[in-house]
Amino acid sequence: MKPINVGLIGIGTVGGGTWTVLKRNAEEITRRAGRPIQITVVADKNVDLAKQITGGACKVTDDAFAVVNDPDVEIVIELIGGYGVAKDVVMQSIANGKHVVTANKALLAVHGTEIFTAAQQKGVMVAFEAAVAGGIPIIKALREGLTANRIEWAAGIINGTTNFILSEMRDKGLDFDAALKDAQRLGYAEADPTFDIEGVDAAHKVTLMSAIAFGIPVQFDKAYVEGITKLAAQDIKYAEQLGYRIKLLGISRRVDKGIELRVHPSLVPAKRLIANVEGAMNAVVVHGDAVGTTLYYGKGAGSEPTSSAVIADLVDITRLHTADPHHRVPHLAFQPGTLQDAMGELPVLPMSEVVTSYYLRLRVADQAGVLAKVTGLLAQHGISVDAMLQREAEDVGGEGSMQTDLIILTHNAREGTVNAVLAELQALPTVLAPIVRIRKEELN
Ligand code: HSE
Repeated sequence: MKPINVGLIGIGTVGGGTWTVLKRNAEEITRRAGRPIQITVVADKNVDLAKQITGGACKVTDDAFAVVNDPDVEIVIELIGGYGVAKDVVMQSIANGKHVVTANKALLAVHGTEIFTAAQQKGVMVAFEAAVAGGIPIIKALREGLTANRIEWAAGIINGTTNFILSEMRDKGLDFDAALKDAQRLGYAEADPTFDIEGVDAAHKVTLMSAIAFGIPVQFDKAYVEGITKLAAQDIKYAEQLGYRIKLLGISRRVDKGIELRVHPSLVPAKRLIANVEGAMNAVVVHGDAVGTTLYYGKGAGSEPTSSAVIADLVDITRLHTADPHHRVPHLAFQPGTLQDAMGELPVLPMSEVVTSYYLRLRVADQAGVLAKVTGLLAQHGISVDAMLQREAEDVGGEGSMQTDLIILTHNAREGTVNAVLAELQALPTVLAPIVRIRKEELN
């Protein structure tokens, strides 16, 4: 059996795991793939580290393009990340007729259309299981396992760093900054955690899931993105008293007018399995019309969990690369040319068109008529109250100094309508601080 030759670009955390697992499980992987899969060349800026890991078993270079242009390499694994060199590496690999395996969600969420079109034209595969939820085979599930279904929605905890921070905030009553410091100390959060805590990483991942689930192009620029940096410990506490946990969810849902594509903190009923996913773990719930609700849970990051997904892609490519490209599983699950026009039938909806329910916290003066005024304004806009909690008033000192928190859960309402009523509520002299609004997802 002639081995298939692989070039690995980036032998850091995931690349190192890929090297180790491929070696450790070589015999079983060969029996599964039908032929050995061997890394013949590794490129990394840190040549010494690459030599140390590979122990002289393959070529090592500091030049990514030496791998991309190596005539013996059939599959390129891109683990550089980002949109810069990584994009050139992927596009040049495709141009050279090589298949690509990548964990680069940012690159595919932003430049996916260009990359998949080029790959289609060249008849090569671009596989990206590792780009979404690390070791969880969610791409495979959406693209193949659920292929009979009309997918209705997918919602996931797809960023471990933020889920770890939210768990810390809930367990220890910490505020966001203290929980972030813990996450950095324990190595969960990067020194610059912006993409994680601002929801961008989750938005890259849900963008990819939405394309595969609904047969639309990747459209990261249309995603609504809100992170967890403004979340207060007291909202986590109040949510808990009302029977909810707060999770950063990536959500994509098919509705009559189009597709919702959004990342934001969400109240989730505490009794849902996904609400109990704690620490750095990931989980994705997918609802299909035939199968109903399915749940996928596991490690969304880390060396060997993510390498599990990278190697699954290597095996897929090894099995399929001799097949006629038209008979392979399409990159985005739907046959190219059948993706629904982004501007036409199935547009990604602006956030103002999203319909969901809401948690509102208002800091108000504890005076007669305040509650009536607040609920009156909600009623005027057709927003129905589902539940309410009013804390005992606190005396903050001075005349007319009694204040309280008013927590309101609403039934479903259109975001645009909620924005309008929030503006009116905020203008009331008895509303004393910026109103907190967190969306609520029942996921049923
Ligand atoms: N930074 C990501 C997370 C892992 O915290 O889940 C890689 O996507």
